[in-house]
Amino acid sequence: MHNLESEARRLDEADPGHRHLFHVPPADGGDHPESAYLAGNSLGLQPRATRDELLADLDDWARLGVEGHVEAGRAWLPYHELLTAPAARLVGARPAETVVMNSLTVNLHLLMVSFYRPAGERTRIVIEDTAFPSDSYAVRSQARFHGLDPDTTVVRLKPRPGTDALGTEDVLDFLAREGHTVALLMLGGVNYLTGELMDIPAITAAGRAAGAVVGWDLAHAAGNVPLALHDWGVDFAAWCSYKYLNSGPGALGGVFVHERHLGDPDLQRFEGWWSTAAATRFEMTPVSRPPATADAWQISNPPIFAMGPVRTSLELFDSVGMPALRERSLRLTGWLERLFDEVTADRPLRVITPRDPARRGSQLSVRVEAGNAAELTKRLRHEHGVIADAREPDVIRFAPVPLYSTYHDCWRAAAALAATVGPSSTKGQPS
Ligand SMILES: Cc1ncc(COP(=O)(O)O)c(C=O)c1O
Repeated sequence: MHNLESEARRLDEADPGHRHLFHVPPADGGDHPESAYLAGNSLGLQPRATRDELLADLDDWARLGVEGHVEAGRAWLPYHELLTAPAARLVGARPAETVVMNSLTVNLHLLMVSFYRPAGERTRIVIEDTAFPSDSYAVRSQARFHGLDPDTTVVRLKPRPGTDALGTEDVLDFLAREGHTVALLMLGGVNYLTGELMDIPAITAAGRAAGAVVGWDLAHAAGNVPLALHDWGVDFAAWCSYKYLNSGPGALGGVFVHERHLGDPDLQRFEGWWSTAAATRFEMTPVSRPPATADAWQISNPPIFAMGPVRTSLELFDSVGMPALRERSLRLTGWLERLFDEVTADRPLRVITPRDPARRGSQLSVRVEAGNAAELTKRLRHEHGVIADAREPDVIRFAPVPLYSTYHDCWRAAAALAATVGPSSTKGQPS
């Protein structure tokens, strides 16, 4: 492992990324001043530009009070529109199909109000067995909201025996058998636990052909992998901005609604004053006149101080571009895989993320046979300054984020894992 450190340094010189644009937390252990931050799939790092942008918005409020709605440097009334086009570019959507608002699970609920309409034998909601718990809770509560039994309404697709990740074929097989009972298919674009990138276009096409509505939770996909939601015909999608989009804890989420649904008067939506078209907002009439855009899904006036960080981040994605980020992500993740291959060969550790680069983004998840992922993750941080993230009981996730992670970060993660987990002769015992 040590012979590979100089190679990591060489790779960093040749392929430096954009780390200088971010605050990297100091290390809380180990030999290096900065942490090797590999938890950007959980919470992205703070861009250096964010603080000044936030201060400018605060200054506008101090200087203008209520007049900031129209007179602020970036007027608050139409502020959210500044985010629409860059968010649309990020996910391969048209601006009319996109809006930034609320948080992810709230948005999933608002979208299910429109797109989960159980009727006749078509009542089921299909998710993956490794869905993030918030999604499980959300779909179960939607079933109950419609007077249905969540235990029979929600189907949890499992990988076939002997495999770690749900295959596209598993989903397609299920749809071929039972698609006629499915009202809504809602999977994670990149699975939060395994890091698997689903075949979004193939699954969307099959789900729609089976007569189901197809929605995607893109929490781990937005800003991680290239997306083409419009062309893929996805019905709806939602994502958060605090992971790969680096917009801060609890940052606003994004929503996509395909053009074919926009302006449909038969679609149910929950409404508030931000659902009506901007030009009608101050007419103070009792009945809304929603625009034929995703803005119609908005309800409340948006939190301006939460929008600045999203805008700053989206500008960065626009300037670097997803294709370049994907290229660097493939190189960094491939390098981490090569290092983990060495470490896991003789240790009770196993990478459960698909090996095919086309089936993953910037994440490798390691299954720890001894099931002590949380304890090991603490040791990685406090003894080696490596920040990864544990998912109980036995998975540690490592995300080499192409904007700011380095080859040397990856090397540090692998070296720390090797130093922390003993070889298989002492199976399961941290060294
Ligand atoms: C896949 C997925 N879905 C949903 C959520 C919940 O997001 P929020 O708390 O923003 O609603 C998360 C959070 O990490 C997630 O990873």
